[in-house]
Amino acid sequence: MRAAEIQDDLSDILVTEEEIKAKLAELAVQVAKDYEGKDLLLVGVLKGAVMVMADFARELPFHAPMDWMAVSSYGSSTKSSGVVQIRKDLDTDLHGKHVLIVEDIIDSGLTLSWLLENFESRGPESIEVLALLRKPDAAKVEIDCKYVGFDIPTEFVVGYGLDFDERYRNLRDVAVLAPHVYS
Ligand code: XMP
Ligand code: MG
Repeated sequence: MRAAEIQDDLSDILVTEEEIKAKLAELAVQVAKDYEGKDLLLVGVLKGAVMVMADFARELPFHAPMDWMAVSSYGSSTKSSGVVQIRKDLDTDLHGKHVLIVEDIIDSGLTLSWLLENFESRGPESIEVLALLRKPDAAKVEIDCKYVGFDIPTEFVVGYGLDFDERYRNLRDVAVLAPHVYS
């Protein structure tokens, strides 16, 4: 697929690469302050959070070990059901750790709510969430997310790690996927 065809699949650019980088740097300053002297573990949710993790973690001024979790949520291609299955579990014991979950997006909140409950049972010292994007009007459960990049409208977005059918993940910006692509 060529660049021009990809552009046709996108309706609006919501957040640019520059805006994302600046916001992640800002959030990193806050996180660095909040976790100074603490045993922080970053947990990325595959695959969407890969870009967020890469750019955010490199803004932190101290060691920040990373681990990864892969989950799948059943549902239609653009909506999550809240029924979650672990595809890849963590390698790290969470006991006594200060866990910061790094997410691409909070949509219904169902996946994260399941994940938070699952992690709580593993005995961490604390758990917080950082999400690059959040769709406030789509929330089915309230997620207490301490670090939020951008609140966006309830539209299906792609880019910067977010995909539709494994495509568009490598776009630099976050854009709204044109309905003709999935309807
Ligand atoms: P929920 O609804 O459980 O979302 O908060 C769970 C996961 O679904 C993916 N998701 C999206 N992926 N564009 C995407 O490419 C979107 O607009 C979108 N909304 C949700 C994402 O992986 C999220 O963690
Ligand atoms: Mg995700």
